[in-house]
Amino acid sequence: MFYPEELVEEVRTKNDIVDVISGYVKLQRRGSSYLGLCPFHNEKTPSFSVSGSKQIYHCFGCGAGGNVFTFLMEYENYSFPEAMKQLAERAGVKLPEAEFDEEAKKREGRRAKLLEVNKEAAKYFYYQLRSEKGQAGYRYLKGRELTDDTIHRFGLGFSNMTSDDLTKYLKNKGYPDKLLCEAGLAGFDEKYGTRDKFWNRVMFPIQDTNHRVIGFGGRVMGEGKPKYLNSQETMIFDKSRNLYGLNFAKSSRAGNIILCEGYMDVIAMHQAGFTQAVASLGTSFTEGQAMLLRRYADEVILAYDSDDAGVKAALRAIGILKEAGLAGRVLNLAPWKDPDEFMKNLGREAFEERIRQAENSFFFELRILQRNYDLNDPESKTRFHREIARKLCGFSEEVERENYIEAVAQRYHIGFENLRKLVYAYAARTGMAAPAVRPKSGIQKKPDGGDNKKKPQRLLLTWLVEEPSVYPKIKKYISPRDFTEDLYKKIAEKLFQGLEEGHVEPAALVGLFEDEEEQREAALVFNTKIDALRSRTEQEKAFHDIVVSVKRNSLEYFGSLMGADVSALNQVIEGKKALEELSKTHISLD
Ligand code: UTP
Ligand code: MN
Repeated sequence: MFYPEELVEEVRTKNDIVDVISGYVKLQRRGSSYLGLCPFHNEKTPSFSVSGSKQIYHCFGCGAGGNVFTFLMEYENYSFPEAMKQLAERAGVKLPEAEFDEEAKKREGRRAKLLEVNKEAAKYFYYQLRSEKGQAGYRYLKGRELTDDTIHRFGLGFSNMTSDDLTKYLKNKGYPDKLLCEAGLAGFDEKYGTRDKFWNRVMFPIQDTNHRVIGFGGRVMGEGKPKYLNSQETMIFDKSRNLYGLNFAKSSRAGNIILCEGYMDVIAMHQAGFTQAVASLGTSFTEGQAMLLRRYADEVILAYDSDDAGVKAALRAIGILKEAGLAGRVLNLAPWKDPDEFMKNLGREAFEERIRQAENSFFFELRILQRNYDLNDPESKTRFHREIARKLCGFSEEVERENYIEAVAQRYHIGFENLRKLVYAYAARTGMAAPAVRPKSGIQKKPDGGDNKKKPQRLLLTWLVEEPSVYPKIKKYISPRDFTEDLYKKIAEKLFQGLEEGHVEPAALVGLFEDEEEQREAALVFNTKIDALRSRTEQEKAFHDIVVSVKRNSLEYFGSLMGADVSALNQVIEGKKALEELSKTHISLD
């Protein structure tokens, strides 16, 4: 723990999870808990549940879950201390200097140092751009028609010709070589030692949504390779979970987001008043970025370059947007190559008009697809229509699918009924009329295999939380040692102790785990649904089965350890006896 456990508990209990999550997700009361659309995966029907009594959340769709700290860590990308800080402030709790354990201290210290050194570097670059040495950079940016205001707003800077300027400066301020290399500001060279990574480039600081500098892109002035040099990923710079310009775009309230390819595009857009423009970070657009955008808009307008590479990237992005449940439209920038050039030549009103005309992303896909077919050849034309039918199957919602069939039929002069038949024939053949929408984002994981062993253990823990009154009836058969999954054992130890003392607090138990993956799993434990069994007799039978499964599994486990572990023998003898007794015993739930 970074802070004393009591303090963490104080902050947690003073921040009602329903209140906190309501600030991010629209929740509706449903029985004893609240339900909403999960912010961690794409869904149309709510499966994200927040429990006021347990003070935890859990998504039945994607498996995300945890307590109020976990939520902020996942949603805001905060570290634990950052979540702690925000929640303490929210509740008016004063925090002392954190007491870090060694490893946590190191981790948190490194994060803070990386942020600090990036900020220092940004300030240095910024200053250079305004100094004598930086005139080439300043002229370059002016040549690209950026105003002083814009240059200031984006914190643009310049890295000098000399290859160890920044390194010297930062080392003088006491930052060690190792940190500079780790931050991606310098590299180590056998011959010259630690040297600047960026030199003779105009510098674009990259900020996270909280306006903290997390990395840089540096552009050569004029021709040269590589055109942009970017910081490598670090513990504060995750290229798949941040977007250039989002720190401003998130409050633009335009109702849409304009997704561009380049830093310069974003800047040109913002300068022209389109403050909803963002770009990915020298890598292709990712699911994580799409989920990020979903928080701020329902529609994304793609403003990718009009060359072949841009079209290809746009097609890819469309798929990702769709998967994330975002509507996409594609801008036509012709005859210009990218938003920056377009703006320079045609100006903001023309751009506004292009936004209005932006093409529905599905039609865009079809238009590009059509290039591969010769519509004068019946054979090729039929293949094209089949391909359209296949794509139409991708709409899982019937109304939407029907609307698209109608629109496409009209646009491509295909008989509506014919196209419809083609779609349904295709769907029937492949069994995919309504493909299940699966979260793929990798942020969450469903419970994995081996669930046969884990499930009874999980169910028993859940049952004990839901109905603590059964505890006295099982404690002579089951001890925390019987939970063979490490994580469950940890939970059981605390839970049994709480039950002995007569109080159970699921959210506090979740907080025992530092690792987010573990917290998620622990929250799952307390949210595993016990099937609504009809009669008390059926419930009692189910409960009995669960207890027996847990015991039997434990017996098997310790049986396999007997050769190596003496204490296992006792456990086995005890387990056999307990199982025998259980087989003769009726556990009443009343
Ligand atoms: P572009 O080549 O379209 O650059 O690359 P741009 O942003 O429009 O820049 P200007 O207008 O030519 O100055 C688009 C994005 O791809 C990444 C950068 O993020 C860039 O903004 N990129 C490009 C690199 O990371 N490295 C490169 O060498 C080139
Ligand atoms: Mn460009």
